[in-house]
Order: sequence, then structure tokens, then C-alpha cells
Amino acid sequence: MEIYNLRVNHLKNPLGYKMEKTVFSWKVRGSKGKQQVSAKIRVGYSKDLVNCPLVKDTGFDPTASSLAYPVVFPLKPYTRYYWDVTVKTDAGEELTSPIQWFETAKMEEHWSSKWITCDKSSTRSPYFEKDIKMENTVKKARLYICGLGLYEGYYNGHRIGDEYLTPYCNDYNEWVQYQTYDMTEMLKNDGKLTILLGDGWYKGRFGFEGAEELSRYGDEWKLLAELRIEYIDGKVEVIGTDESWQVQRSNVTFSNIYDGEHVDDTLPESDSEPVLLCEAPKAQITARISTPVTIHEKITPVELIQTPAGELVLDLGQEFSGIFKLRVKEPYGSRIHIQTGEVLQQGNFYNGNLRTAKSEYIYTSDGIEKEIIPHFTFFGYRYVKIQGISNLKKEDFTGLALYSEIPPVGEIVTGNDLVNKLISNVRWGMKGNFLDVPTDCPQRDERMGWTGDAQVFAATATYLSDTYAFYRKYLYDLAKEQSIREGKVPNVVPAFGMEGCSSVWGDAACIIPWNLYMFYGDKAILEEQFTSMKSWVDYIRKVDDEKDGWSSVFHYGDWLALDHPVGKDERMLGGTDEGFIADVYYAVSAGIVAKTAKILGFEEEAEFYKKISDNQFTKVKDSYFSKTGRCCFRTQTALLLTLKYHLSSDEEKIRETLIGLFNESRGKLQTGFVGTPIMCHVLSEQGLNDLAYHLLTNEEFPGWLYEVKLGATTIWERWNSLDENGNISSTGMNSLNHYSYGSIVEWIFRHSAGINIDEEPFRVSANRDILAIDDAVPGFRQVVFEPVLSRELGSVQASYNSAAGVYESAWSFSDENQVTVKVSVPFGCRAKLILPQIDRKLFNDKQNPMFSDVREGVCYLESGEYCVSYNVIDMASKYSIDSPLWSLLDNKEVREAIAGFVPIDKIPEQFTFLTLYQIGEKFAGVTSRKQLDSLDKLLNQY
Ligand code: BGC
Repeated sequence: MEIYNLRVNHLKNPLGYKMEKTVFSWKVRGSKGKQQVSAKIRVGYSKDLVNCPLVKDTGFDPTASSLAYPVVFPLKPYTRYYWDVTVKTDAGEELTSPIQWFETAKMEEHWSSKWITCDKSSTRSPYFEKDIKMENTVKKARLYICGLGLYEGYYNGHRIGDEYLTPYCNDYNEWVQYQTYDMTEMLKNDGKLTILLGDGWYKGRFGFEGAEELSRYGDEWKLLAELRIEYIDGKVEVIGTDESWQVQRSNVTFSNIYDGEHVDDTLPESDSEPVLLCEAPKAQITARISTPVTIHEKITPVELIQTPAGELVLDLGQEFSGIFKLRVKEPYGSRIHIQTGEVLQQGNFYNGNLRTAKSEYIYTSDGIEKEIIPHFTFFGYRYVKIQGISNLKKEDFTGLALYSEIPPVGEIVTGNDLVNKLISNVRWGMKGNFLDVPTDCPQRDERMGWTGDAQVFAATATYLSDTYAFYRKYLYDLAKEQSIREGKVPNVVPAFGMEGCSSVWGDAACIIPWNLYMFYGDKAILEEQFTSMKSWVDYIRKVDDEKDGWSSVFHYGDWLALDHPVGKDERMLGGTDEGFIADVYYAVSAGIVAKTAKILGFEEEAEFYKKISDNQFTKVKDSYFSKTGRCCFRTQTALLLTLKYHLSSDEEKIRETLIGLFNESRGKLQTGFVGTPIMCHVLSEQGLNDLAYHLLTNEEFPGWLYEVKLGATTIWERWNSLDENGNISSTGMNSLNHYSYGSIVEWIFRHSAGINIDEEPFRVSANRDILAIDDAVPGFRQVVFEPVLSRELGSVQASYNSAAGVYESAWSFSDENQVTVKVSVPFGCRAKLILPQIDRKLFNDKQNPMFSDVREGVCYLESGEYCVSYNVIDMASKYSIDSPLWSLLDNKEVREAIAGFVPIDKIPEQFTFLTLYQIGEKFAGVTSRKQLDSLDKLLNQY
């Protein structure tokens, strides 16, 4: 038995984080038992939790949930706490985990240091210095620091920590983060503490709202730092920023998030300048919440290309975000110019779609061989154009992927290489856009925390990675922005001056925390966000004001859908009424607030918001649906929403109309930001898995694999970002790394692999109780495995390291008819397994000793591994006379096969949405019933 993944507030051994409460979590594996019966947490000041006095000992607690166990004790500043957990299982085992720790930051302690700055007239980035002399042997040393715009710390020339772009991205008028570094090892010797400052989100152009872009928060570099040294004799010395520090000038002459960086190593060493005292930033300085942004993958170029235009371009083979290192050895004064791009055009370097972002690095050499690495910028790129290096070799360049800590938790490999590439692209899209803030894109002059994008991608992200701590910081930012806007959620968070607000986008305030609760089962996120969630719905109520105000203000709606009647390539709004979408999401968010209030024990509020949600749903039904259940919008997205939220009194009719719509578009999606993320889920709920798979595996425009076939390595912003020839379709708003449509991966986890949360608690077997320790099902304590087989995928192998432990699910065909399904359920969890395409009449627990509890063909499972092989039934062949003609014509072989029977060229294009059978009926004489029957047999073979 092993206890692993020990976390406090979902962080591993966190140093210097903002900490108001402590919620512990852990996972167990390798136990002989099936579940935990109790657990205890011990917390102390020393690693020796046995002999030293404890700060807290919970004693064995049968209610201690391994998902989230809040333990209350007073916290002191500057303090390292050690903890462990002891778990007892139902097999009589008892085990204590390895010791973990967390350390508080300054908490409410006063800063004895002063904010310092320097003369503003030089554009050379300053570095602030202080000589450090130790009075005695150091027992413990910490650096508490915040530098604005961005900072990097060095001690005796060695970088302090491995984080980039600190102190990270916030609305700096609302809160500013400081970080804490363990300096104990570094301070073995006397030395020089150096802090380099550059521009960044605080200072320098960022965002696209007019003139203030240049200095939204401030126009001076600012630094606050405290080096707190504890000597072995117990004495504490604090060396803080003040007038005694010195300023020097670095060779960084320009830096900006969008435009890159300029470094001139021929500049003369600067004279040391006195520091100036300055005002603190407007907002309170707060211990960090942001998780660290560090270098992850190191990417070596796959090719050095000499383009037709005569440029030297490196292809890194993968689009990502980050920086690079480049070995240079050029004569004194040489100018090296590096530019980044996402795609080649006609074989040449291209960066036209970055809009005004220069995204370049300009270096002037001092003739000394060295490796250059940018400090205060990042690039979203795959291609790099390099000028000024005489004998460029691809080995000289390494791409450095920068992103926040999002440990991978989900893996899926299918039998379809293109789908596998798609999943890889989604994962890279996530890495590229999880740089402190969930951004829309990492390359053009935007790179902002668009709420809608974050909302639609959150579930996929959480299947792929542990996102709790990352989103927690984003939600904290979001709540801060709302607090100065009476509940309004700006379209981007941090807002950077953007005051607009839209449904679906702002609903991130409710949907993301709810999603986190579902995945992690930790109520803390709901407690923290409840005010924000509520105030968003209250804001909508205010705008709506009984006069339908909410549906009449501007909303992005089904953004970038393909069905808007007007415009073509540059169209952005979709064909579904934005007011309708806004009204539906209002009801959805109010419903989430009601459920949250209930969970938190706020009964009155639960009732209040439930009523709002119910009334709003009724209003939607009354306003947009006929008495007979017809929806007044005939678009894929409108009908998908209708089915998802059960808005029509005649779902069968809506389902038929939706199928008809897909046939009219020859089985192609037309959906944008609203319809796409829900599309395949709704189709699966409606039993239309074949259509869902068809949409996923379709290789033509528009569709996911169309991009893959055109060489995409991340997810595009638009379905038509590139045309069939690889030409960029437009430059106004066109990124090749936007994760939103990557939301299909959630469906692949839930349906292809079939790893689904089940919201209704169930018994695993008659003699075993529903797990007592968690009062509800969130946090993946229980799942329903309901994999959906697909011949196009061939096989699926998935694992999901959920908050409760690792689930695995796999299926593969061993021959035409036989499928093998394997699943595993982690310790402390339970699952229902709904075996796909099995003859339920033949399947029972008697026949399959592996499954001890089978009810109506559904296997009820405790933790363990399960495997079963059987002959599938009802695997409908893909084609029949009930297939729409377009689908028959799309397959070359099928097309040829029917050509001998049906005069396909004579059937007008606009009738290809009809099935072969309907065509037979409509165009009497084209085929006879007998012919149709033999055609059906023929088609079944494909
Ligand atoms: C962004 C989006 C965003 C949208 C709002 C774009 O510029 O890149 O992804 O959601 O604007 O409509």
C-alpha cells in the first residue's frame, strides 16, 4: 500500500503561497482493501512528528475525505509546517505517508523594506544590487520579493529559482503578488544580490484598449524585497530594499510581451546610480497564488530551411509558447535579428497574422561566444527566422516551452493516428495558453485571459492536467475584476481596460468553479467563489430588469460559427440568435448558483436562485418555442442547446430536425464557441454516437482532422484558419493556437474512453454501503464507464489520474466481432460499467465470475481491474439505404458501388441530404423496392 499525491490546497509542498485555510488531500494505491475507513492528519513544526509537540492532530477521523480534508489550526508567518496522513483501510491496514511540508509567507507581517525605483530617463532595464555579508552561519534564508513590471533575481550571478515572468499577471490595481524563494543554500557565502527588472504586463504596452496601453498601471520600474536570514544562534536579520541599494543598467534596452526584446552587449558598463524611493503600487501586495511558470520541454529544430525568398528559417516541428536559447559567436557589433511565426506561406517565413505584435529578438554582439535567452517576453511559435548569424546550425537553437504548473493526468491513445495527433495538438494548445492566465492565444497582440475560451475548455483541460491551482488563481482574478464592476465579468480577465461583457464568456464565473468542484470534490473552491458566482447572476438580473435587457445587449453568441447568413470568411458572429443563447446561459448560471448555495448550506439563497433559474428556463421555452415544441431557430447550435437543456416539449421533433440539419450540411458541423463544445455530448445523449464519431473523424473542411491533415500542431482559432492549400484565410483575427475547439477532447474522454462522472450515488453491492466518507459524488469517487466503440477509431486506451485515483479504460477489437474491454477502478472508488454492444440477455454475473454484481447488464464495480472479451452485437454497419446520399457519395468505394444502380449524377445536389431510401421514394422509378433491398445488403458490407 502506498499513500501518494499528498497536497495542501492542491499544491505540492508549497512555499510562500497565500494561505488562509489548509485543505489536505492524498491518494492511496496498492491496498488490499477497497476503501479508507478513517484517516488522521498530524501537523508540527518539526519533521519529527512522533517525538516533537504537534500543532494539530486530528485523531482518526472516519469523515476525513482524501479528496479534501479541511483542518483548522492557527497559522503563523514565516513558518514551515510538516505534516503527514495516516490511513486505515477496510482490510485492517494502517499506513503513514511520507512527511510533507508547507511554509507560510509574511501573512500580515509588516514589510520593513521600502519600494525603490530608478531614474526613468534611460531605457536600459535596471538592475538593483546589494552586497550581502553574513554575520554568522545561516540556518534559514528566504527572499520575499516583488518587482514590477517583471523581475529576475540573481545571487552572485546565479539565477534565483527557476520561474519566469514573475511576479505574474494580475490587475495590478487590485492585487500584486510577491514570491518567496529559499535562499539558504545560496547564502553559504557572502555575495551580491541582484534584481533585474523589465517591462511586462504592469508596464509597457499590453491589451488593445487605446492610449493607456503604454503604461496601464505605472510607468516606473518598482522593487520591494526582503531577505530574511535566520542564523544558527537564533538571530534574525532582514535586509530589505532601501536607499542603501545601488542601481546599474543592464544591456536589455527594450522588452515587451508582444514585441519581444532587444539586448545590446556592446553598451558600456553603466555607472552605479543611487536608487530612488517610490510609491507603492496602488494595490495591496499579497503572497502568491499563481503557480510557477517554468521551462518544460526543450525543443530542438527539426529542420533548417532556406526559403524561396532566401531566408534562413528553423522549423521546430511543434507550435508552442515560450522563449529560446541560441548560441552566438559573431564579431563585435553584429546584429542578430530573430522573428517568430506560426506557419510558412509559399514556403517563406510569415508573421502577418500576429497583427501589431513584433514578436522579435534583436541582439547586438560583443564578440564573445555565449548563449542568449530572453528575459521579459515570450513567443507563440513554430518557425524562427534568423538573420545575422554567419554559419547557423540547427543545433545552436533550442526552443524552451514556458507554462504554468499543470501536471498531466490524462492520457488517451486511439487506433487512429489522426485522432491521436488531434489529442496531441489539444495538449500543446493547452500548454501554449496556460501561462499564468488561460489565454486565447499566445502569439498575436492579444494573449489575454478571454473568459469564454477558458470556460469552454475547462473540462478538457482538467481531463488532461491537474488544473485546480491554476484556475483558482484565474477565478481569484475574475472575482477581483467583478468586485470593482458590480458583479460584471469583463470579457478578459485580468481586464486590461476591456469593459465589455458577454453571456457564455462571463458565465465562466459560475461554470469554471462548478466544474472544478465536480472534478476535485473540494468545496473550498465553491466557498471562495460563491460571492463571485452570485454577483454575476445578480449583474445579469440587473441588466435584464424584467424588460429582457440581457438578451438585447451585445453578446458574442456562437462566435466564429459558420452559419451566419451574411458575410463569408471574415464572419465572426454565428447564425444562432445571441439573445436566445444569453437567455439560456442566464438560466444555467442561476442554476449553478442555486446548487452551490445548497451545497454550502445556504438554503434561502438556494431557493432564491433556483426560482430564478426555473423562471428563466420557462421564459426561454415561452419565448423561443412554439406550443408544439418547434424551436424558432433552425441552426445546429440552437437545437443542440435545446436538447441539452430540454427546452422543447417535443424532443423527438428537435432531434429529427437536428439530424436533418447535419444532413443538409453533408454531415459537417457549422458550430462556433457555443455549439462546438456541447455538440458531440448532446449527440451521444441522443444515441447519435455514429454522427458524433463521424464529426470527429471527418477529414474535410470544416472539422478537427481537416486541420490535422493540413499539418496543424495546435488547434486553430477558426475552422478555416488555413484553406486547403495551406494559405492563411485572413489576417485580422486568425491564430493557429487557440484552444477553444480543443474542447472535443472532453468528449473523447467521456465517450470514446467512457470515463464519466455519475452524479447519482449508487451501491456497489448489497453488502457494501455507499461510500460514507464523501457526502456526494464529485471528485471522481464514482464513474460510469460507458465506452462507445467505433470502427474508425479501432481501439482506445485511456487513463485518468483523477482526484480520487487512477481510472483506466481500454477497448480493442481482436477480430471483426470480438471486442475486449478493460477497466480499472482506484482504491476508495466505485464504478458502473456499461459494456458496449453486448447481448444483455446473455450477460450476467453467473457467467462472468469477474463481475460479482451485474444488474440488467450493468456491472457494479469496486476498486480493482476488470477485463472481458465478447462478441459485439448491433454494430450497425456504417452504410445502408437509410444513410443520407451525401455520406455514400463521400466514400469513394461506396460511391462506385452504387453508381451501377443509382443514376447519382442526375440527383440534384440539394437533395443529397435525403437517404437513399427516401430518394427511391421521391424519385419513383429511379430504384425499385427490390433494388433497394439488394443495395442495402451491398452497402452493409462497407
Ligand atoms: C479572442 C477570442 C475571444 C474573442 C471574443 C478574440 O479576439 O481571440 O478567442 O473569445 O475575441 O469574441
